[in-house]
Amino acid sequence: MNSFPAISGVDLESVNFLTCDAVAIPVLLGEKVELGNPKLVNSLEKTTGENISEAFKSWPDATGKAGELFEYPLKRNKEKLSRIYFVGVGQGSGEDLRKAASALARKVKASGNLIIDGLNPKADTAVVHCVSLILSSYTYTLKSDKPKKPATFQIVGKFAQEIEHAKILATGVWRARDLIHTPSNIKNPLWMANQAKSLVTKVKSPALSIKIKSGKELAEFGGLRAVGNSAPKPGPRLIELSYAPKGSSRWPHVVLVGKGITFDTGGISLKRPYENMVAMKTDMSGAAAVLATILAIADMGSKAPKVRITGLMMCAENLLSGTAQRPSDVIRHYGGTTVEVLDTDAEGRLVLADGLAYADAELAPDYLIDIATLTGSATLGLGRQYAAMYTRNNKLAKTLGEIGERIGERVWQMPLIDDYKVALVSDIADFNHLAENPNQPDFSAGSVTAALFLEHFAGARNWVHLDIAGPARSESDSGENPKGGTGFGVRVLTEWLTSL
Ligand code: BES
Ligand code: ZN
Ligand code: ZN
Repeated sequence: MNSFPAISGVDLESVNFLTCDAVAIPVLLGEKVELGNPKLVNSLEKTTGENISEAFKSWPDATGKAGELFEYPLKRNKEKLSRIYFVGVGQGSGEDLRKAASALARKVKASGNLIIDGLNPKADTAVVHCVSLILSSYTYTLKSDKPKKPATFQIVGKFAQEIEHAKILATGVWRARDLIHTPSNIKNPLWMANQAKSLVTKVKSPALSIKIKSGKELAEFGGLRAVGNSAPKPGPRLIELSYAPKGSSRWPHVVLVGKGITFDTGGISLKRPYENMVAMKTDMSGAAAVLATILAIADMGSKAPKVRITGLMMCAENLLSGTAQRPSDVIRHYGGTTVEVLDTDAEGRLVLADGLAYADAELAPDYLIDIATLTGSATLGLGRQYAAMYTRNNKLAKTLGEIGERIGERVWQMPLIDDYKVALVSDIADFNHLAENPNQPDFSAGSVTAALFLEHFAGARNWVHLDIAGPARSESDSGENPKGGTGFGVRVLTEWLTSL
């Protein structure tokens, strides 16, 4: 596995250019394309004797657009410093600095170098800038050759606090990605439980505790069992992670429920087309986000928000086997609601329903949020850049939307269309678990009907459903994301919790 890059802040006065390998200088977008951070440029010129403005002229096509990058080699043989990166930073918005950071980190990826980053973030954009530097350095590898050392970044400016916070967020995403990228012959629900336990041990917070339910303890969790019993061993697990610092019984209680399908074949309603199955090791991205978010809050120690959190990771494998559930089976969820299963590939809502019903009945949450790679339809509606968000609490939706926009994980509120509820009426059970005739024009909104199904199990709670089927995966190695699992959800949830 590749390791987390080192990142720290440094004052311009104490920068030692000559001991680093490269310096990144901002290029601004404006009427005139020019270099930003003149103080850094001056001081670099003084120490090296190089004419930086002259060097910049060797990039005549520069426009200053965020993320453009030009490498200028320095012909120095005595010192280490061997190159300058001119990097477009646009107008310096968070989004711009994120693009600039991605371009820089991708350029120097795994070269084991110390980079002075003079791209000039401001306090409010420093966090996203630094998170992006770290996340763009991520690769998951099981190749047998030795992993390369990641780059080391020194950020010019007084950003100690921002860097500290960025490290916590990026560590969270990094942890989620490691789980998501792990192949499914390694990860099963038991493996997820063991990973959660060892991460809890590593984080060493007295506020954290973890309980794993399996076998008979899951008797009432009919959805989790119906899906998870398709796997011969070790069977499904409910991982319950609690973050409850001293005094937190009087603070808001947030319950996060994550879909943790460690592989989704579709079950007996085998996934079609079968090429789509390859990506399905990422179907536990929701559970990974829940785990990583809670650990991130615990990592904040005394700076953590005054909030109590319970995470429910609904872990199961959806296999095709002699013990797999059948289309037409009727299952009994936690709390007694019966559901007629019509398509075993819509397994996510079955495991989530138990989690939501359990939270509603037993945990008295002030906020109940589920996060899941739930429907291909969400991706059809919004593509890969936005998660589909469903809630009746429009104020909360607005808050989450704004936080997501700022931190770089965007969520878009979609309507819970009551008229479509009739699609979930079953002849023999309380509900059909999906719209029976998806070809009927009104009911083809698969992400909406899935949300309506889940809403029933959340009772009257302050509930939000995040369908992350789109943004949980990236088709290519680009920007902050590696090809495959992105770790989506950790940042927006952690930032929202921090705002409570
Ligand atoms: N895990 C999939 C959803 C998914 C699709 C996630 C693409 C990421 C990328 C989910 O379990 C599923 O198969 N959903 C079905 C539901 C349908 C049978 C009602 C879908 O979206 O096709
Ligand atoms: Zn499925
Ligand atoms: Zn699934």
